[in-house]
Amino acid sequence: MDRIRIVGGNQLNGEIHISGAKNAALPLMIASLLTEEPLVLVNVPRLADVKQLERILENHGVDIAVHGRRRGDTEMGGQRITFTASDIVDTTAPYELVSTMRASFWVIGPLLAREGHAKVSLPGGCAIGTRPVDFYLDGLRQLGAEIEIDAGYVLARAPGGRLKGASVRFPKVSVGATHVVMMAATLAEGTTTIENAALEPEVTNLAECLVAMGAKISGIGTGRLVIEGVEKLDGAIHEVVPDRIETGTYAFAAAMTGGEVFLRNARPELLQSALDVLVRTGVDVTTEEGGLRIKRNGNGIMPVDVETDPFPGFPTDLQAQFMALMARSSGVSAIKETIFENRFMHVAELARFGANIHVDGQTATVTGVPELKGAQVMATDLRASVSLVIAGLAARGETVVNRIYHLDRGFERLENKLSRCGAEIERIAG
Ligand code: UD1
Repeated sequence: MDRIRIVGGNQLNGEIHISGAKNAALPLMIASLLTEEPLVLVNVPRLADVKQLERILENHGVDIAVHGRRRGDTEMGGQRITFTASDIVDTTAPYELVSTMRASFWVIGPLLAREGHAKVSLPGGCAIGTRPVDFYLDGLRQLGAEIEIDAGYVLARAPGGRLKGASVRFPKVSVGATHVVMMAATLAEGTTTIENAALEPEVTNLAECLVAMGAKISGIGTGRLVIEGVEKLDGAIHEVVPDRIETGTYAFAAAMTGGEVFLRNARPELLQSALDVLVRTGVDVTTEEGGLRIKRNGNGIMPVDVETDPFPGFPTDLQAQFMALMARSSGVSAIKETIFENRFMHVAELARFGANIHVDGQTATVTGVPELKGAQVMATDLRASVSLVIAGLAARGETVVNRIYHLDRGFERLENKLSRCGAEIERIAG
């Protein structure tokens, strides 16, 4: 299994290209199941999760064509991929494919809406809590689906072959459940209202794509989505929004090492709360044309308390990275995780660098130390893994991050992007 070796201590200076968002690309790819026409996605990141979802979609009968370079494309630009689901040949998403990535469960929405039935394995994915699927199933039941669970599979059926518009209220904000019910409702008979819908930019990105495909959705970007079902959807060309989590990760990395980094393509409004926190730690954050500039020269890192929240709050997917930063702050900070109940696995690994972190229930208290020391560490989940890379960049001496396949799921060309900015980082194969 590949490892990443880092020799810490170098500042980051230069430019990092922000890729398309994994968490937007995945639901957009799944939306291709809703139409027999081609859906062209632009700025798709090169990631293991994207490849895995391609396999899953191909199994349902989707033709996938990756386009070559276009005039003006840069080496760092994303992929342009056409997904054509002219004929859905299989409405089963098997365990072997779904178990590696939770988001692949989301195919249940489009399959059920278009074909009237679906059989989808219960999901796997990052081990960050129990992550149930009750909101999805309750939402689809509201749309008239009959649902059974049998031998690890969800069997869903729309009586009469078509879902029916309904009023759905989620008890708690859920990104995935909003994606699924919204996609399913686009082809339902009548009008669906989703209350307490997720406001995350990836939901907005998907809603805009669905509208480009001919869906009738109002309230986009608010907590109340109204979807008037249509008979069929068409193809479209749609761009994947820049990755706000990748943006925040590199911003925190630059804050950690010091230096000055320009994050090309970053869109500040996608992560304003995280940037506000970064400014309070003493970092200069400037919005410029085409991206965001992050600069920390000389001064120390101030401690800041943070609580994760649904968008527009501080994202749970940046919690581990922020904890790495706070491990080097000049005081004590409290980090409260409110979205997932078991998302502190990185604490034990950060402690291996000499970080001083104490967890009590949902809150981690981080007492900054003057220096972190390089260590052998193990990647546990996607975002936790990259927090270890950030810590390694600032730590004295050598760090080896083992089991990095999680990183490849969500960070495109990580070591390449960082080494171009002066980091001593390499992948060790094997
Ligand atoms: C998505 C993101 C993930 C991010 C998370 C929260 C993708 C591929 N993944 O995950 O990176 O950390 O949003 O921003 O986009 N819940 C239930 N029942 C359900 C569904 C969810 O109780 O049926 C709970 C979850 O356990 C969690 C909370 O709701 O406590 C929010 O989870 P949700 O927003 O659904 O996360 P995902 O969509 O899985």
